[in-house]
Amino acid sequence: MGWNKAGWRNRPRVQMPDYPDAGALAAVEAQLTRYPPLVFAGELRRLRDQLAAASRGEAFLLQGGDCAESFAEFSADNIRDTFKVLLQMAVVLTFGAKVPVVKVGRIAGQFAKPRSAPTETVDGVELPSYRGDIINGIDFDDASRNPDPHRQLKAYRQSAATLNLIRAFATGGYANLENAHRWMLGFIKDSPQSSRYAELAEQITQTIDFMRAIGINPEQHQEMRITDFYTSHEALLLGYEEAMTRVDSTSGGYYATSGHMLWIGDRTRQPDHAHIEYMHGIENPIGVKCGPSLTPDGLLQLIDALNPKNEAGRLTLICRFGADKVFDHLPALIRAVKREGRNVVWSCDPMHGNTVKAASGFKTRPFDQVMQEVRNFFAVHQAEGTHAGGIHLEMTGQNVTECTGGARALTDADLSDRYHTYCDPRLNAEQALEIAFLTAQLIKHERQGKERPQTEAAE
Ligand code: PEP
Ligand code: CO
Repeated sequence: MGWNKAGWRNRPRVQMPDYPDAGALAAVEAQLTRYPPLVFAGELRRLRDQLAAASRGEAFLLQGGDCAESFAEFSADNIRDTFKVLLQMAVVLTFGAKVPVVKVGRIAGQFAKPRSAPTETVDGVELPSYRGDIINGIDFDDASRNPDPHRQLKAYRQSAATLNLIRAFATGGYANLENAHRWMLGFIKDSPQSSRYAELAEQITQTIDFMRAIGINPEQHQEMRITDFYTSHEALLLGYEEAMTRVDSTSGGYYATSGHMLWIGDRTRQPDHAHIEYMHGIENPIGVKCGPSLTPDGLLQLIDALNPKNEAGRLTLICRFGADKVFDHLPALIRAVKREGRNVVWSCDPMHGNTVKAASGFKTRPFDQVMQEVRNFFAVHQAEGTHAGGIHLEMTGQNVTECTGGARALTDADLSDRYHTYCDPRLNAEQALEIAFLTAQLIKHERQGKERPQTEAAE
């Protein structure tokens, strides 16, 4: 009751920049309020329904993309390659685990970053930390690190162009399942993951040939030809989000139109603060990052604030503990949610709890630890009788060397070869595909585990 989109301004906030020129900021925000919405209420309702299925274990959420999108790396090829890998992963999950996959990119708006320290010191010079291209620049000089509101307009335009290309890919024929074997990226052609994938694509081709033979074809069945693909980002920069918040004329509700799904970071989920205040009033499907500092009572308090009507598909809990900490934290959270009968999607972010500094100085993530967090997450859900409903990855279609390990056993020494991320280390396409194969296997296992008692009962 009484929520308004500017209400967050009266609450304490962390991780948001102080703009030196308040007038310029207000002018940019006023301009953004007149710009077209990037996403539409009907799409958000459709995503919510699909996530509701994931909360019941009838679908699986695949969310992935850059840690931080950047202006410099903006190109059609990068968008296409990220999209390709996500499509490949979705095929692995759909075909391998026989489960509908809800595809959500960390893309077309993932620009603002929370940081561990407000400033950075290099050679005795202290400057504000880089907070993402929508706020300031990564170059270490005064002009670049100064928050500039005009960057919000550029981020908006890049998001619009990115989304335009994604919509074309998703619905214009590129995502046709008949193209599954063409989504393979050239640089992983000789890897073990690629031969596993090629085998699967061949099975899909044969299945489609068979279906054609019996009179079912992609021309008449659009579900074989087009796909739903949604966008998501961390709703960190609330002035931008407020400006993009619109009333839906059909339902009268408020929607954030900057992206389909928005999430709250692990550092900005204080119940009485600005980010929770803003997020509780919008009707988008939303996520909350759940890290080791979140207690079961704290989680229930957040659920009360963010999903008071207990709508399935509204709230995704994105767990990011670190491989070794999953067993310490996740069971108690699951039990509290189960006890109170709350509908949520449980998703696993195996990236943010497994970041380490390599001897070379690069921030990295050991691929074994990433895989292990996914396994542990599924194991806990299996033990608690709940559904592992999704995964959340930082990944790219580029051939980067940012996370150690994987099929090519990247070492610390390899990191400097192609370390391009603007923030956290991402999985490359090959590593992302390996996670998809592992996840498909774990979902299958979860389903078999559920089916076994029924078979026994029937005997
Ligand atoms: C992120 O997803 O990039 C991020 C900053 O995550 P978290 O809030 O979980 O640390
Ligand atoms: Co990150």
